Amino acid sequence: MKKIRKAVFPVAGLGTRMLPAAKTVAKEMLTVVDRPLIHYVLAEARAAGIEHFVLVTGRGKTAMEDYFDHSVELEATLKAKNKTALLDELLADLPKEGEISYVRQMEPKGLGHAVWCARDIIGDEPFAVLLPDMIMDATPGCTAQMIAAYEQTGGSNIVVVEPCPPGMAHQYGIVALDGQSGRLNPMTGMVEKPAAGTEPSNLFISGRYLLQPEVFDILSTQERGAGNEIQLTDAMLKMLAGGSPFHALEYDGTTYDCGDKLGWLRANVAMALKRPDLRGVREMIGEELRR
Ligand code: UTP
Repeated sequence: MKKIRKAVFPVAGLGTRMLPAAKTVAKEMLTVVDRPLIHYVLAEARAAGIEHFVLVTGRGKTAMEDYFDHSVELEATLKAKNKTALLDELLADLPKEGEISYVRQMEPKGLGHAVWCARDIIGDEPFAVLLPDMIMDATPGCTAQMIAAYEQTGGSNIVVVEPCPPGMAHQYGIVALDGQSGRLNPMTGMVEKPAAGTEPSNLFISGRYLLQPEVFDILSTQERGAGNEIQLTDAMLKMLAGGSPFHALEYDGTTYDCGDKLGWLRANVAMALKRPDLRGVREMIGEELRR
């Protein structure tokens, strides 16, 4: 069983649900409290022991390359002003040189295509995929839980799932399981947006995967599917059909889907409430509700 060393972060989408901001600010650079979405997700991967981060970027996404690099003028100014704690925090958050790579998806052809764009950097080893618009608030982090599941299953592909709000299954990708006991179960299939009442389980696919590299061979010939996009789900279904084991992991934590406005606002409130340096938040929200 190979170690999980690398993670792919697809960040090349258009983010249409976050317009107008997403017109000039990459969705993944929108802040939750005081740090961009991509910051949370990269930190989750790093805490799980990931050694190499591959960002699949596109036009208008270069701010992320600057974010994960030195800002020489800013660092000099912080040093001159003796703001060493702030400076140390900024420096500690930077990936080490050579730990981060960027590949360009020249057209947002879908999540499957974005993952495929990382094939040469990933090579012939299993890897994690983290969707940066999903903040998974968990201890240990969702990626760490996923790697533990990978090890427990002896190297299965892993799809992180979570229970669907009642009556909402028709909006999600839903997994089919071979029996259900505990949080880690063998998967037999996946259905995108099943018609109401036909869903094979109440568990939907959220934004984290561990995949064996054979997914790249399948993606290289993959046709466009739902939404006219090259879908990762379709490639995973082909792997399943070809006999690759998949397990669904119901991780222990809370997900904030920051890909739409309400979810992003909720994440801001939730993360602010957890911050000891922002003690006035609860009171502030109360005041706004009474207005
Ligand atoms: P989403 O479907 O949530 O992102 O993809 P989107 O397409 O940018 O958003 P909407 O639906 O138009 O609002 C999940 C992640 O996959 C990336 C996105 O950047 C996002 O982080 N993605 C999606 C790509 O990198 N390339 C694609 O072709 C599609």
